[in-house]
Amino acid sequence: MPEAIRSIQRRFPGVPTLEGAGVRLRRSFSNQEVPLFDPFLLLDRFGSSNPADYLAGFPWHPHRGIETVTYVLAGEVAHGDTLGNSGVIGAGDVQWMNSGSGIIHQEMPQRSEHGMSGFQLWVNLPAREKMSVPAYRGLTGPELPEVSTDTGTRVKVVAGAFGGVDGPVRGIPVDPTYLDVRVPPGGEFELPTHPGYTVFSHTIEGAGIFSGDDAAPTVAGETVLFGPGGPVRQRASEQGHRFLLVSGRPLHEPVAWYGPIVMNTAEQLRSAARELQTGDFIKHRRPIVEA
Ligand code: FE2
Repeated sequence: MPEAIRSIQRRFPGVPTLEGAGVRLRRSFSNQEVPLFDPFLLLDRFGSSNPADYLAGFPWHPHRGIETVTYVLAGEVAHGDTLGNSGVIGAGDVQWMNSGSGIIHQEMPQRSEHGMSGFQLWVNLPAREKMSVPAYRGLTGPELPEVSTDTGTRVKVVAGAFGGVDGPVRGIPVDPTYLDVRVPPGGEFELPTHPGYTVFSHTIEGAGIFSGDDAAPTVAGETVLFGPGGPVRQRASEQGHRFLLVSGRPLHEPVAWYGPIVMNTAEQLRSAARELQTGDFIKHRRPIVEA
């Protein structure tokens, strides 16, 4: 028997939050929601035309035990990390960073005439991978395939697959799908998902109605968590509908969370704090190649 269309389980309007050194953003979900979004931990939407809202940025800070996924829609974020990576994440680019055992990095939005807009998603690592070697993927917009359907929907594939096209981010432990979907006015969209996986959507622009939910349309800035089932089905409003669609395999493991470090036990958090003080936090650095 085919799986039922997923309906909306809960809606999250996004809470104004001050983060980093003073960045005004909207937090869709975070540690208050554990384990609802398992294996996802946090979704922040940053977006402002006022540089005072974002220029303070996220100066040097540690991460351990998670992956951070930054997707920039407008503007630029300069970054640097203890693996030796540095550069700029521009509009349309994705940075998929696995902190593993530990990374210290900075993420600094740059002044932009076109405003600053984007997302950061935190993806949990399974217990066995939390102390793994850190890894980093930087993908520019043109490296992300865009699939067009015959009804005019365009889907940018970061991870997972759509229409037989795989995204460039592969080999992630929780088997994520991460799509940026643009449905034209009145258009319909359907995506099969793995039963048992967690699935959510965040509306970027416009509005749409997710099937199985007869209530109000989902509007810009809103995140919806889907209940159990199979496919996700959506009908766009007359404005059209652009949204992120994200899914992943839940870990069902204990979560011990302190700021940018997410482990399984309180003792692991204490040793991370100790190592930050003694300078033993970073386990892996890219070897420096001398000229
Ligand atoms: Fe960070």
